[in-house]
Amino acid sequence: MIIAIDGPAASGKGTIARRLAAYFSLPHLDTGLLYRATARVLLDEGSKLDDVEKAVSAARGLALLDFEEERLRGREMGEAASVVGAIPQVRAALIDMQRAFAARPQGAVLDGRDIGTVIAPEARVKIFVTASPEARAQRRALELRGRGEKVDYAAILEDIRKRDKRDAERAEAPLRPAEDAKILDTTDLNIEGAFAAALSIVNGAEAAS
Ligand code: DC
Repeated sequence: MIIAIDGPAASGKGTIARRLAAYFSLPHLDTGLLYRATARVLLDEGSKLDDVEKAVSAARGLALLDFEEERLRGREMGEAASVVGAIPQVRAALIDMQRAFAARPQGAVLDGRDIGTVIAPEARVKIFVTASPEARAQRRALELRGRGEKVDYAAILEDIRKRDKRDAERAEAPLRPAEDAKILDTTDLNIEGAFAAALSIVNGAEAAS
């Protein structure tokens, strides 16, 4: 069973994906980390984020060492990942790895922006997780505060809106629900409520197939 989870930043998709993966004992890939790690390589070597050649070579050369999560999860890297994610050649360089992960015999859970539309359009379960920008900014603020980062709610809300716009308006694999995705709005749900709603979508899709 492939479970494809898409949605904007801080919608709760990562937590839902992790919880579903644990519940069904499936491997999980957070595809945002691939774009974050690519951006990180560019920043570390002092290259511009829109240098296509350097960005493609960073994406192709990703190694396990580039996935040190602590730094990748920061605010700066989310924004930088959105910039490199708008480069079609970078997306092309990362596609095979993601498709191979989705094609594991036992199935997989993947979360990102284009899983249901581009990476695994064949997925039996597709969930598009969303929430109001204000609710997402609150969550991001809490998360960053927990990581010891300085938090400015207005700046975070602005970041979220800007990132949504860039991710949704790019030409290649824009952020949008697949036609057959179920929309899960987590604005008024806590983690348990969001997970229960996601589980019921998965069970419903399983029963229907
Ligand atoms: O899910 P995230 O916040 O870690 O993603 C960071 C950025 O990476 C996101 O704003 C756009 C890009 N991204 C993408 O273009 N496609 C994906 N499948 C996942 C992330």
